[in-house]
Amino acid sequence: KAPPGVSVDPLRIVGKELKFLTKNIRKLLGSGHPMLDKVAKYYTWSEGKHVRPLLVLLMSQATALAPRNPHTHSTSISSQQQSYISEPISSPLVLADANPDTSPLTAPAAELEGIFGEDPNILPAQRRLAEITELIHTASLLHDDVIDNAVTRRSSSSANTQFGNKMAVLAGDFLLGRASVALARLRNPEVIELLATVIANLVEGEFMQLKNTASDERSPVFTDDTITYYLQKTYLKTASLISKSCRAAALLGNSTPDIVEAAYSYGRNLGLAFQLVDDMLDYTVNSAEFGKPAGADLELGLATAPLLFAWKENPELGALVGRKFEQEGDVERARELVARSNGIEQTRALAQEYADKAAAAIDILPDSEAKNGLLDMCEKTMKRRK
Ligand code: FPP
Ligand code: MG
Ligand code: MG
Repeated sequence: KAPPGVSVDPLRIVGKELKFLTKNIRKLLGSGHPMLDKVAKYYTWSEGKHVRPLLVLLMSQATALAPRNPHTHSTSISSQQQSYISEPISSPLVLADANPDTSPLTAPAAELEGIFGEDPNILPAQRRLAEITELIHTASLLHDDVIDNAVTRRSSSSANTQFGNKMAVLAGDFLLGRASVALARLRNPEVIELLATVIANLVEGEFMQLKNTASDERSPVFTDDTITYYLQKTYLKTASLISKSCRAAALLGNSTPDIVEAAYSYGRNLGLAFQLVDDMLDYTVNSAEFGKPAGADLELGLATAPLLFAWKENPELGALVGRKFEQEGDVERARELVARSNGIEQTRALAQEYADKAAAAIDILPDSEAKNGLLDMCEKTMKRRK
């Protein structure tokens, strides 16, 4: 825990680094096709929380002060690697960027902004990783809003509402493509493998979510497997990106294996807590505060943690889960049973357990402002309202 009275605002610690994040992301997303350029950058104009890049930057700083591997590549990045990372990936002036590797080796000064930032404890590759995590996350939001038929996102029109489903899906694919190029340029096969797995995991999580339970029964019965299935789905759809990018940050910093594991465990547990809180807020806050439709999960047929805990107390919910709350009055009945149960409290308690585990996972990191920032993120995750 941070000493009392000491400010550990994570946003302040890496605030300067984050300042360039959105600008750099827009550069990665440049396309000569004006409409694609516009749709691809659309979500970069709204106020995102930047949770994933923030965690990558804090983890990079916090692990920089821990032991590193002795005789593999040094902690500073080679000049060859620097030129890969800083090469312009896209140019808004050309339509096709068929072979990005033919772009000039010396990047224009503007291209380097923020990548070679001021904090010597964050490597250019780790800054780029932070941008890649936001690109993958934003791609998943573009696709998710199509799947969920969302009308709003971050308190404005969703991309699908603004531009239609086809453009929203294609823009998401474009983001994944540009994220893949940036990832390849880090020239680190293990990190490429981790983030490529994340993309597959997001799809696996979304597929698991298409069904509320492992079985296809009409009126499923609540068992321990119900929670296990939900948690596995939650790991895939949310915690995979956070955990694997924390792990990748430590790997890029050449951390020792125990530090790499600690970074992963922190991300995994925080990611699970983060989604549990999200699923709880869907029941407890209003849409205006949430910045996206609240109470949406039941409408989408989804049984998340608060409902699952209520189901444990009220077996009659099984039938509603089985028909995805589709029958007239199902959503209202389910909402009422959740409100009368202690499903919300149990969800909060489970999230707290994971947040505590995340904090404990980084015990082995040396004390630092960045470590305090990571601990503060555990508290902020539990207190957030949006
Ligand atoms: C938000 O969940 C969505 C996700 C965490 C991941 C969605 C993943 C896909 C659509 C898979 C395919 C996409 C890519 C790019 C690999 P939510 O709907 O529960 O949250 P919300 O309330 O913010 O919409
Ligand atoms: Mg959604
Ligand atoms: Mg969704």
